[in-house]
Amino acid sequence: MDKAAPSLVDYDPFAELPLAQHIIESFTEKLDIQPGSRILDVGGGTGESAIAILKCLKGPVGWDGSVTLLEPEERLIEVAQTRLRDAPVKYIHGYAQDLEHLNLDRRAFDFTIWSNGIHYVVDQKALANVLKAIRRCTGVKFRAWTTFMADAYVGRTARFAGLWVRAAYQRLGVDTKKRRRAKSMSMRRVRGLAEYVTAFSEAGFTDVRAGLERFELRPEVYEAIACFDDYVENALPSIPDRPDITLRMRSEALVGSVREVYDRLAVDTLPRNWLWVEGAP
Ligand SMILES: C[S@@+](CC[C@H](N)C(=O)[O-])C[C@H]1O[C@@H](n2cnc3c(N)ncnc32)[C@H](O)[C@@H]1O
Repeated sequence: MDKAAPSLVDYDPFAELPLAQHIIESFTEKLDIQPGSRILDVGGGTGESAIAILKCLKGPVGWDGSVTLLEPEERLIEVAQTRLRDAPVKYIHGYAQDLEHLNLDRRAFDFTIWSNGIHYVVDQKALANVLKAIRRCTGVKFRAWTTFMADAYVGRTARFAGLWVRAAYQRLGVDTKKRRRAKSMSMRRVRGLAEYVTAFSEAGFTDVRAGLERFELRPEVYEAIACFDDYVENALPSIPDRPDITLRMRSEALVGSVREVYDRLAVDTLPRNWLWVEGAP
C-alpha cells in the first residue's frame, strides 16, 4: 500500500503562507457548503483545510455542522487539535487507504474534501479503492485539489525547475555534469487532469468536473515546498555514492537556491497550476 507519509519537517511553512490559505479557501468555497453540513477532510494535516471549511459552517450563533479530520501523522493531529480547540472537529488517525475499513455509514458525510494531498496515493489500484470508499461515505459532493500533478508547470516554471535542481546540487558540491540529470517532479510518474477525471469516473462518481487554476508563486512558496521531504526525495533524489548528503541537507540546498534562480530568471513570481476535480456520489 502506498502509505509513505512525510516525516522530515512540518507542513506549517507552506500552510502558513497567505497564498496557501487563499488557494484552500477558494477551492473550498466552490463547494457551496452550508451550515449544518458534515464534512470529511482527508489528509487534514495541521488544520488549514478544516479552518476553511469551518468558515462555511458559521451560522448566526456559532458553528453549525461538523468536520471530521482524517490524518495519518499523529503530531499533525495534535497541532490541529490545539489550533481548533473549540471547533466542532472530530479526528481520525489514519490514511485515506484506511477509509474502506473504518465502517463509516453510507453517506456519513455531506461533503468530502481532499486538499493538497490526493497525489500521495500514487498506486492506481489504491486510488481506485480510496475513491470508492469516499464515494460510499459522501452524500452530496467530493472535491480534491493538488499541484503535484502532470499539468502543474506553465510558462517558465519548467525552466525554473531545471535550474533549481542544478543550483541545489552545486550548493552540495555535487558535479551535475558527471551525473545524469536528476529526476524532477515533472518526470515522476504523476497523473494529470485527464487521469484524475478517468479515476473519478471509474470509481462511480457522476457529474465529474475538473479544471486547472493558475497561481503566481513568489519564491517563499518554493522555499516552503522544499521543506516537504517527499518533494525533496523526488526533486533531488539521494545520491548513492554520497551517503553523507542527507535528506535535510538536500532540502536546505533547495531552499537556499530558490531566490538565486528567481534572480537569474529576473522574475518576482512564477506561474503554477493547481488541479481541482470533483464528483457527485
Ligand atoms: C500538504 S498536506 C495538506 C494539509 C491540508 N489538507 C492543507 O490543505 O493544508 C498533506 C497531508 O496529507 C497527509 N497524508 C500523506 N499521505 C496520506 C494518505 N495516504 N492519506 C491521507 N493523508 C495523507 C500528510 O500527513 C499531510 O498532513
